Amino acid sequence: MSRLVHQYLTKTHWTSWTWALRAIPASPALGQHMKYHSNSASRPDGVHVVDLRSDTLTKPTPAMRKAMAEAEVGDDVFGEDPTINALQGRVAKMFNMEAALYVPTGTMGNLISVLTHCQSRGLEILLGDKSHIHLYEQGGIATLGGVHPRAIANLPDGTFDLETLDNYIRPTDDPHQPWTQLVCVENTHNFCGGKVIPLSFMKNLRQKTDEYGICVHMDGARLINAAVALGVEPSEIVQYSDSVSLCLSKGIGAPVGSVICGKADFIASCHRLRKAVGGGMRQAGVIAAAAMVALDDATERLTKDHAHAKIIAKALHEYGAGVVDVDLDGVHSNIIMVDIIKEGLLAPDFCHRLNQVTPEEFDSLKTPIQVWCMPFNSQKVRMVTHCNVTLTDIELAVKKLKYALEEMREKPTVSEREHIYYNN
Ligand SMILES: Cc1ncc(COP(=O)(O)O)c(C=O)c1O
Repeated sequence: MSRLVHQYLTKTHWTSWTWALRAIPASPALGQHMKYHSNSASRPDGVHVVDLRSDTLTKPTPAMRKAMAEAEVGDDVFGEDPTINALQGRVAKMFNMEAALYVPTGTMGNLISVLTHCQSRGLEILLGDKSHIHLYEQGGIATLGGVHPRAIANLPDGTFDLETLDNYIRPTDDPHQPWTQLVCVENTHNFCGGKVIPLSFMKNLRQKTDEYGICVHMDGARLINAAVALGVEPSEIVQYSDSVSLCLSKGIGAPVGSVICGKADFIASCHRLRKAVGGGMRQAGVIAAAAMVALDDATERLTKDHAHAKIIAKALHEYGAGVVDVDLDGVHSNIIMVDIIKEGLLAPDFCHRLNQVTPEEFDSLKTPIQVWCMPFNSQKVRMVTHCNVTLTDIELAVKKLKYALEEMREKPTVSEREHIYYNN
């Protein structure tokens, strides 16, 4: 059994970026994997890398760097950084919410939001069992805030069953049970393949939570992707939530930061808590300036990213029979979740093959191409398009996928190959 597969089999939790990076060892053709981990580009050895691991990999454009160099700044903990204030005002306006707060990361945005909603220890929140807050934020809401998470099974479209939600909401007169304080939703839904949460679901959820006087927080790390996919203003989506966190450092393309939005008193509490968790960043206008530039043409860029994701999904669908399965209609935004269906083939094997350039492949394609992507679990691989992936990159990725998928269909699986190898 290869170290790669062994690593997978002994791993209970997935998608820790650092683990995933370690799990894709550099092949002889790869050179140093980590050295070239940023953008899709030609590497010094001439290999064209199309990096689809995450939309967090984008690098600031010259315009962003210029804005950063020239940014007006002040002490943001005092509320005196004009660039931060402009960014917060801009996002609050975009969401039609009273106020906004800049924070270093999406994880901190979610943590501060949940802890501000749940002001005393032992309160319960309801959230999807495949949500980022539940799976990938180290349980920070429990560790740092004493918040009790209760997971509802996410449906494939990223929503959950509202009748189940209704059953999960606790009575307030039973001393045995915690009180339900908050419901969290994720839009777009990362684990569910970038699915856009239907507005009808949000409306029904709001009605339900209003019946019980419970708040709603939206992890909108990729909320602008959702707005672009639905063709609506972001404010139309967030109207059903009390608070929302938006990542600027994902598809939007800024290097750092997230913004929380909500009512003015909610944001004032968040501001206080941000200091407690070490998120007061002083002259942070330097980084916020890049986000201001990134927001200018985010809609156009995300529209392209979504179109690129469709091209990749179509190629996987067209050339991947018997090897992979992709729900074409389920590709709503910039994320493609690929199911590995060939028996004995594991997600890390699939990613590893896309990282290799074999001599036969080079003879056939004439261009050495690597496509980098993330194993999400044993049978799932995630690919994400972003603004540093061009149409040319996508076309090269399609060439690579066609070749590699045909090879994977014809050849024995990695496990079988290893079986043969060990018997030789
Ligand atoms: C849906 C979702 N929420 C929150 C986060 C956390 O963002 P950050 O990495 O900035 O902490 C991520 C990061 O990938 C995400 O995908």
